Amino acid sequence: MLKIDNITKSFGGLRAVNDVSFSVNQGEIVGLIGPNGAGKTTLLNLLCGIYKVDSGSVRFEGNDITNLAPNRICHMGISRTYQIPQPFDALTALSGVTVAVINGKKRENMTLSDAGLDASYFLEFVGLFAKRDTLSRDLTLYELRMLELARALATSPRLLLLDEAMAGLNPGEASKALDMIWSAQEQFGVTILWIEHVMKVIMKAANRLVVLQYGEKIDEGPPEAVMANEQVIQAYLGGSDVND
Ligand SMILES: Nc1ncnc2c1ncn2[C@@H]1O[C@H](COP(=O)(O)OP(=O)(O)OP(=O)(O)O)[C@@H](O)[C@H]1O
Ligand SMILES: [Mg+2]
Repeated sequence: MLKIDNITKSFGGLRAVNDVSFSVNQGEIVGLIGPNGAGKTTLLNLLCGIYKVDSGSVRFEGNDITNLAPNRICHMGISRTYQIPQPFDALTALSGVTVAVINGKKRENMTLSDAGLDASYFLEFVGLFAKRDTLSRDLTLYELRMLELARALATSPRLLLLDEAMAGLNPGEASKALDMIWSAQEQFGVTILWIEHVMKVIMKAANRLVVLQYGEKIDEGPPEAVMANEQVIQAYLGGSDVND
């Protein structure tokens, strides 16, 4: 479904993503892990067009999407959530998701009230319908993470990119968030590429892990095998806490 070939991105002299290749198959949950500063978010930004690659290519469902504009990539069926939630602060939860419905892949002749109905459905799905009239800036972190998910789903993606969906959540919230992501996979048939530091969660959720360190892919495979790799263990022990 997604095929990344030898992508590289530098910021000045720093190679944030260095010659990385891997694929994501339809229906999978692939975990993208690695210590702080490994290049995970940069890689996601390359996939959704926020940054342009210096070299290499990205193919999605057989189409070359390398360096397309973010809105075109979204219309092709890829959406994402942010590590630090990026709500429209001054909009209500419902309006924020309505913006996503309108800017995603629209149904023909969709009116604003149709878009609002769709948005309500996604808010309901993530458990935020009761907060539909709350301004986004007044939501809790858990609610903001759910709003991010609702907004991403509202553009009708086939591939969902998650950037640290669990960060800052307590164990009870993280468990609810994981159930929600599984339901999204089941209900909307989305394939998921998921950056996550909370190892307990990603070990449980992912079919496969890809590990980055200093911008390079150092391992890829089933979670148990990857976590037994000495280089991966060292990457984490030598860096920061895996659960920060
Ligand atoms: N826009 C930018 N300009 C300059 N340097 C950047 C930019 N974005 C990222 N970097 C640098 O690229 C490297 C990779 O950063 P990135 O945010 O991709 O890491 P990450 O793996 O997502 O880390 P974390 O787990 O802390 O979120 C870091 O050294 C970071 O400082
Ligand atoms: Mg990051």
